[in-house]
Amino acid sequence: MAQSKVVTVTVEDRIAWVNFARSDKRNAMNPELNRQMMATLDELEFRDDVGVLVLGGEGTAWSAGMDLKEYFRETEARGLRGVRESQRESYGWFRRLRWFQKPTIAMVNGWCFGGGFGPLFACDLAICADEAKFGLSEINWGILPGGGVTKVVVDLLSMRDAMWLTLTGDLIDGRQASAMRLVNESVPLDQLKARTTEVARTLLMKNPVALKYAKDAVRRVGTMTYDEAEDYLVRMQEAANFHDRSDGRKEGIRQFIDEKSYKPGLGPYDL
Ligand code: ACO
Repeated sequence: MAQSKVVTVTVEDRIAWVNFARSDKRNAMNPELNRQMMATLDELEFRDDVGVLVLGGEGTAWSAGMDLKEYFRETEARGLRGVRESQRESYGWFRRLRWFQKPTIAMVNGWCFGGGFGPLFACDLAICADEAKFGLSEINWGILPGGGVTKVVVDLLSMRDAMWLTLTGDLIDGRQASAMRLVNESVPLDQLKARTTEVARTLLMKNPVALKYAKDAVRRVGTMTYDEAEDYLVRMQEAANFHDRSDGRKEGIRQFIDEKSYKPGLGPYDL
């Protein structure tokens, strides 16, 4: 039986707008959505006409987290095999998104619960609506924030804020989420798409190879010692030099030193 589309994609001016599209279920992530997300990431990752991916949600939700009926109850009914399969599918696309070739932006328009913190963290940047609402509702239905969610809040928030959200299940709005640094910025809902587009365009003007190595470095070095990080960063820059067929860093220096056509302190070189 053909499955309905629960993920939609529009590519426009090198921005891939990917949406959770189960608005009737507040974009809760069921196994079908998890599979469609993985297929979507596969399809978009190395396309030349895609430079940035934005993950948004249709309707009033960004994502109401994992689907309690289809992701939990129905897969548990299939035993351990069913549970592990559905975990692999969800964790799989979250991981794929964390290390996606292009920079990614979470554009959080509304509800973001529990398992939704997985893709939220997986996106490199996050911009939300002031009207958005975030919560770790797991405690309200009797579980701990699993599937990486506790790790996400401990990595992104202070211990006190992480503990508060985890134990109380209290909601926070977009401005509070921004103040806690769960997201980069919060703007009124009617400005969300325009602001996200502006940030995406800023990224599109940068060297794409440098973006990929830089975003991976930010995620990797956190758990390294200083010496390990120093070594890793030297090696990664050398790998980036190999992959950057445009020799971008040399061009960047040339346009500044010889051509005097731009100033790196004030903006990017002309790609
Ligand atoms: N899992 C399964 N179904 C869901 C989920 C979910 N996470 N969220 C919403 N739905 C369904 C509802 O059951 C309802 O289905 P129905 O129309 O067949 O009855 C439909 O989506 C609409 O939901 P409402 O509750 O009617 O929508 P409302 O706008 O009033 O409320 C809200 C939105 C607050 C998001 C509410 O739906 C809710 O609390 N959802 C659960 C949030 C949650 O706790 N998610 C799990 C986090 S923990 C984890 O992800 C591991």
